[in-house]
Amino acid sequence: MNNFEFKNPTKIIFGEGQIAKIATEIPKDAKILLLYGGGSIKKNGIYEQVKTALKEFNIEEFGGIPANPEYAVLQKALDVIKEKQITFLLAVGGGSVIDGTKFLSSAAEYKGDNPWDILDKKIPTLKGMPFGTVLTLPATGSEMNSGAVITRSETKQKLTMGGPGLFPVFSVLDPTVVKSVPQRQISNGLADAFTHVLEQYMTYPVGALLQDRIAESILQTLVEVAPTILKDPTDYKAASNFMWSCTMALNGLIQKGVPSDWAIHIMGHELTALFGIDHARTLAILTGSHYSYNFETKKEKLAQYAERVWGVDQGSIDEKARKGIEKTVAFFHSIGIETKLSDYTKDYGGTGSEIARRLKERGMIALGEHGKLTPEDAEKIVELSY
Ligand code: NZQ
Ligand code: ZN
Repeated sequence: MNNFEFKNPTKIIFGEGQIAKIATEIPKDAKILLLYGGGSIKKNGIYEQVKTALKEFNIEEFGGIPANPEYAVLQKALDVIKEKQITFLLAVGGGSVIDGTKFLSSAAEYKGDNPWDILDKKIPTLKGMPFGTVLTLPATGSEMNSGAVITRSETKQKLTMGGPGLFPVFSVLDPTVVKSVPQRQISNGLADAFTHVLEQYMTYPVGALLQDRIAESILQTLVEVAPTILKDPTDYKAASNFMWSCTMALNGLIQKGVPSDWAIHIMGHELTALFGIDHARTLAILTGSHYSYNFETKKEKLAQYAERVWGVDQGSIDEKARKGIEKTVAFFHSIGIETKLSDYTKDYGGTGSEIARRLKERGMIALGEHGKLTPEDAEKIVELSY
């Protein structure tokens, strides 16, 4: 096992009826900015619950943060923060609203002239404005990590940011919110969380037995609950296990002491920037090709995964590893997610070379757990995904 340090300061408040508790987590004298997305929270009762909980507080609101949180919209929210002298941010939404709030948390304290530099120049956030979250969509794990991904559509960019100052102070995880989530987003959540685990697991063995077992158990839980939660999002047992699995998939725990990959996400963000494909679906497009292309360096973990997660007990390491890839692609199909770029766009020609060009431009020339994947390799992986 590799050396590591682990600190995750986010307080999780989990369970039905817990949204009311935000009142005891936010300082009484805070000037709050409540941030939300396109309006789903006004239809499913979550907005009402938040407003009721905070009736004694001083609150401003900013709605309209779109999926793939958009820099231009966030700049308007930043103006509100400054104008109204906001001291605490409350994100009520999925990964997009939470990520947008993280950007605002950072930008509100940023001393430079241009907040885009936080993303473009990869400036880590050591201290941000404090913020809490009420999660409405299990998927990204953003509710318990310190990363964010922000889109700038005018330049077709989707860039990451983060730093130890960007953990939420608290996050409320009430599984009953899942009941209003559309099927497409439930599938996305399952695929995103599944791939988060894979990115931190499908590398090479380093004797981290516990990390492997925790990762495999998250994958198994997602596989187990997927059919039920897709059929009946009001099923509390399935919803609570789905929600906690998504959080555990990317709160930093399983990444400690092990190598991680993240090439699928890096390439996937470019597919969203270029074509607007949902984040999770970009991952499903690339996973099979990425693992086939890097078969030799990943086959031991692929075989272990096939055995332990999918019960493949016959065959050589190579045969099991191939089965592991097949099972993964079949899992995406089973939750209604297509796995070829051509399923999403007719304009896929040249995408591989365009992604290679973008990676080069940003100096991302050494991807994967070994740092050996070049933009030319990324080009081939994307081409295998057409
Ligand atoms: O905007 P509203 O009206 O709220 O509707 C949203 C949105 O249209 C809807 N929704 C959310 N909760 C709902 C609901 N509809 C009904 N009932 C509810 N309870 O779902 C739609 C999608 O929401 P979004 O927040 O975009 O989805 P998700 O949570 O999948 O977030 C995706 C974003 O997170 C980034 C992705 O790149 C993408 O931008 N990621 C963030 C990560 C992180 N911070 O750690 C890691 C991930 O790998 C990912 O990159
Ligand atoms: Zn993801």
